[in-house]
Amino acid sequence: FLTYRLLRPSQICNPSVNKASKKVVDIIDIEDMTSDKVSYCRCWRSKKFPLCDGSHNKHNEDTGDNAGPLVIKKNS
Ligand code: FES
Repeated sequence: FLTYRLLRPSQICNPSVNKASKKVVDIIDIEDMTSDKVSYCRCWRSKKFPLCDGSHNKHNEDTGDNAGPLVIKKNS
C-alpha cells in the first residue's frame, strides 16, 4: 500500500533545497558562530540555505506570505 502521501506543488514548503535527501536537517554548533548574530532561513527560498539571503522578501511579495528568518544572537 501507499506508505507516503503525494503532495501537490502548492503544499510543498521546500521547492529546491537538497531535494535528493529524504529529510533536510542542518545542525549548527553555536560555539562555531563567528559573528554576534546569524539569520537562518525559514522560507526555504534562500540560495545560501540554511542561512537567510533575503529571498523571503520576494517570496512574501509574490505569495502574500509573511515568512522571515530565525535570528540567533549571542549575549553580549
Ligand atoms: Fe528564507 Fe530569509 S531567505 S527566511
